[in-house]
Amino acid sequence: MERLNTSVDIDWELWREDITGSIAHAEGLGRAGVLSAGEAITIVAGLEQIRGEIERGDLVWDRKKEDVHMNIESRLTEIVGPVGGKLHTGRSRNDQVATDLRLWARRRCDEAMSAIDALASAIIDRAASEIETLMPAYTHMQRAQPSRLSHHLLAWQELLLRDRGRLADARARLNESPLGAGAVAGSGFPLDREGVSRALEFRQPMQNSIDATGSRDFLMEVASALAILGVHMSRIGEEIVIWSTTEFGFITLSDAFSTSSSMMPQKKNPDVAELVRGKSARLIGSVTTLLVLEKGLPFGYGRDLQEDKRPIFDAFECAVASARALTGAIASATFNAPRMKAALATGHLCATDLADFLVQRGVPFREAHHVVGAIVREAENRGVQIGELPQESLSAAHSSLIGPELALALDPEAAVERRSLVGGPAKATVLAAISAARARWAALS
Ligand code: ARG
Repeated sequence: MERLNTSVDIDWELWREDITGSIAHAEGLGRAGVLSAGEAITIVAGLEQIRGEIERGDLVWDRKKEDVHMNIESRLTEIVGPVGGKLHTGRSRNDQVATDLRLWARRRCDEAMSAIDALASAIIDRAASEIETLMPAYTHMQRAQPSRLSHHLLAWQELLLRDRGRLADARARLNESPLGAGAVAGSGFPLDREGVSRALEFRQPMQNSIDATGSRDFLMEVASALAILGVHMSRIGEEIVIWSTTEFGFITLSDAFSTSSSMMPQKKNPDVAELVRGKSARLIGSVTTLLVLEKGLPFGYGRDLQEDKRPIFDAFECAVASARALTGAIASATFNAPRMKAALATGHLCATDLADFLVQRGVPFREAHHVVGAIVREAENRGVQIGELPQESLSAAHSSLIGPELALALDPEAAVERRSLVGGPAKATVLAAISAARARWAALS
């Protein structure tokens, strides 16, 4: 039973919030006249002393005392004597742990959001410094159309902006005070729920004691936001892995963010990106655990809920560590611009532009698509690129495929510059997108 029951090995992590919540509760009891002013002061001083002891690593956590709450309360009674037993008046561990978790999640959301901010800022900085670097845009992992690296990097940042928004939303919703909800049905003492809520910088006291003590959707929500972030970072990680291959050679990670092989002396591995990819599995696992934990749970606290801590602690750990490592890896990587540009030379990337050229001369797009399809086949048969075919072949495919602008249609750089709509890769458009992105992120922090 002890092994099943105890949770302090995990939930000691809540100690800061447990002390902060207890101080607010004790002061609230003082204001309500449930404790005398002197008793409240004694209890708060005892709690402050325990804070110092834990900070110095002096408090010995005892598994026999079950959890972080009982460990701290029992140390309080050791320090201040029987008056320590008055702290728990009008409170249950059910509203206490719900309060600790909300305070903790709020702090970690802030930390995760600033980790996302730093990652986005590193990505936008690289988008700015790589503005001249052209590369293919891919669909199905096949070279599709000419584009630029900055445009690709800004796509990464768009996802992160939404991830940050999801965390901010979840943070705002969870910022309510359970204290005063008691075990399940509130308290008969005249507790100052408003004042305690304000002291803890919550938006308001939670409006239903059954909900306040027995609901953990705030953790599901935060874990979901972190899992989506994890999936996004795994996609970025995957691209770094692929781009680091000899076959691609688009990116070289700095030594600080690569690892070597214990056997093969030549190896320089993109472990940072692979670990980020791997952590996303744990993030998906955490949100799954939290969802299943509450599925079918009747209203009113059930001890199942003690199992909510490991997944949410792990989720923040994985997400923040991944974001921070990715930030350093991206900031310090070298992009191989000549390799990227060279990738534009093969794969007939300007085939769409050639079709568009015909469309501008009045040919319906479907027909133009068909004509250029035949041109690509001919080029493939001859083992050349469409731009290398003789003029006779082009004119034979369609009489409008002639004139000085034809060369422009087949030039990757010109193709990128033509795509100047908002959301496109032309240089001026991307420069404007970089400024807009910086402004959007600045407005958040
Ligand atoms: N350690 C418990 C948890 O994390 C605290 C609440 C215990 N409540 C109870 N009625 N036994 O959920």
